[in-house]
Amino acid sequence: MALPEHKLRVLIPAEQIQARVKELGAEIERDYPNDPVYLIAILKGAFFFLADLSRAIRRTTRIDFIGISSYGKGTSSSGEVKLTKDLDISIEGADVLVVEDIVDSGITLTYLIHVLEQRKPRSIRIASLLDKPSRRVRPIQVAYVGFQIPDQFVVGYGLDYAENYRNLSDICVVEEG
Ligand code: IMP
Ligand code: MG
Repeated sequence: MALPEHKLRVLIPAEQIQARVKELGAEIERDYPNDPVYLIAILKGAFFFLADLSRAIRRTTRIDFIGISSYGKGTSSSGEVKLTKDLDISIEGADVLVVEDIVDSGITLTYLIHVLEQRKPRSIRIASLLDKPSRRVRPIQVAYVGFQIPDQFVVGYGLDYAENYRNLSDICVVEEG
């Protein structure tokens, strides 16, 4: 399954991800009294999380995607961010939940929240499957976190290494060699 130059070690097995996503869904369902809830997923990494999380929230939801690129193809953000695909729907007056795969430096989300706030949503919060708190450069409040993980590069369940491994059901650490 892995490329010859990589070894993959399971960090969070699929069953554990599924159980945690259901818990988060139940929590979000309790916290949002008004329908619809706007789920805005960041492409591409958050799409598996969005698919499972949205079905764990028994509410009317509206789903949209936003594309962001942080320049550079390596394993860390370079600090420069740009919008590559905008929303199709208006979020004015809406309760928005931004759905992200992982918060690392916090640079991507700091930028995105700034952009979305200018569109006057009623509320805006973040749900991230993973959080690497030790890597934070910009302080950012994440209302719903699936798992905190150590400073290791992970793939699977949407997360990639140079576009590989998004389709793994487990979250795995990539080891070189
Ligand atoms: P931030 O701007 O540094 O918080 O970067 C967040 C983005 O970097 C995420 O949306 C991911 O696309 C990517 N990223 C950060 N850490 C990892 C990782 O361990 N595996 C895969 N992608 C990562
Ligand atoms: Mg991402």
